[in-house]
Amino acid sequence: MIKAVRGMRDLFGPEMHAWHRAEDAFRVVSAAYGYEEIRTPVLEHTEVFARGIGQETDIVGKEMYTFEDRNGDSLTLRPEMTAPIVRTAIENNMVRHSPVTRLWYTCQLFRHERPQKGRYRQFHQYGAECLGSPHPEADVEVIALAKDVIDRIGVKSWTLEINSIGTAESRAAYRDALVEYFSRYEDRLSEDSRRRLRTNPLRILDSKDEQDRALIADAPRIASSLDAASTEHFAMVRSMLDNQGIAYTVNPLMVRGLDYYSHTVFEFTTDRLGSQNAIGGGGRYDPLFAMLGGGAVPAVGFSLGIERLMLLLEEEQGGWGEAPRVDVYLAPLSDAARVAMQSVAVACRAAGLTVVTDLLRRSVKSQFKEANRVNARTVVLIGDDELAAGTAQVKDLSCGTQVTVPVAEVVRAINETV
Ligand code: HAM
Repeated sequence: MIKAVRGMRDLFGPEMHAWHRAEDAFRVVSAAYGYEEIRTPVLEHTEVFARGIGQETDIVGKEMYTFEDRNGDSLTLRPEMTAPIVRTAIENNMVRHSPVTRLWYTCQLFRHERPQKGRYRQFHQYGAECLGSPHPEADVEVIALAKDVIDRIGVKSWTLEINSIGTAESRAAYRDALVEYFSRYEDRLSEDSRRRLRTNPLRILDSKDEQDRALIADAPRIASSLDAASTEHFAMVRSMLDNQGIAYTVNPLMVRGLDYYSHTVFEFTTDRLGSQNAIGGGGRYDPLFAMLGGGAVPAVGFSLGIERLMLLLEEEQGGWGEAPRVDVYLAPLSDAARVAMQSVAVACRAAGLTVVTDLLRRSVKSQFKEANRVNARTVVLIGDDELAAGTAQVKDLSCGTQVTVPVAEVVRAINETV
């Protein structure tokens, strides 16, 4: 048997229905904030990520699906969407046409991580990016959008953590403070963190190594390296969140795993998914346009992991919820009735009803069983007697009532059972 690629899941059945409801939430809430959908190719030139996310990050260093295509170009299956969005915004001059460009997306992404519950090699995100505004109100807009989407999906057990990593200058000062601190304990650091001490000391704070974590707990905090403008930006973000009634905690050690961030960073976390506790994250990424050759354009955004949202929903609600209802199951009982049923199917679908028909020529009993299995509201029966009389029987499956009506009135009779 040929199986799916490790870490890549098939989506079907009741889980798919729950995804559809989540996707409806993405559309409705994004539109309510004035965000427009964007879709970009699944492949990008490798340098979009190498330059955008940073060489020393786990994503670029260890996790990308990169290959040479037949022309010898280095291409990568996108591991995230922010760098591709900035690539297309630059290429299409978006911010010149629309000084605040608001975009949302939902798509599949690829990271070669060790698969486990909530962590896959192909996964999906919903996200939004607000391009063009340097102001804290843009940070708060995307945080509020993310929160409203999570609320609308119905997920309840989450908390919001925020931090500020300031400007490039604040980070340079913080970097020096970290190098000074961690150098004192270099022999106790993990091999990865020792390397990062030279290449990208901020990344040490993301280390999952237990001994590293103990040292990180006493490491200097970035707040003491923030300049006045960064401190004020962060204070504004906090008071606007307070004003909207959005609860959060400040996590002074959060720096996020990608190099393009500045100022506000945030994560939505949960305590109900074990080690894969981040259901989403984002932040301001003012440096990214310049990193990809697009000049100085400030921007902020976030992505939510859809698999993790869905796992949480299933855990909280004890299942995937109801399958969508089928309005009518058509049950013809003879060859002639099967022919006559075709026009009934056409009329029902034209009236906007969802219709399932028997395709296995089953007995009445097993057709009723099937109607219940597909969650049908009504069954329309036509046998030879009905055919001769030009009628059909319409049965309401919720209460068992059955009426005989002229074939031309089947749609009305179904609608009356609602
Ligand atoms: P990220 O923190 O790398 O940020 O990913 C965001 C979310 O995607 C995570 O919190 C998690 O829920 C989900 N996720 C990440 N990796 C996996 C995986 N292997 N399996 C399942 N879910 C996963 C970004 O991607 C940034 N682009 C966010 C952003 C947007 N920043 C600014 N704008």
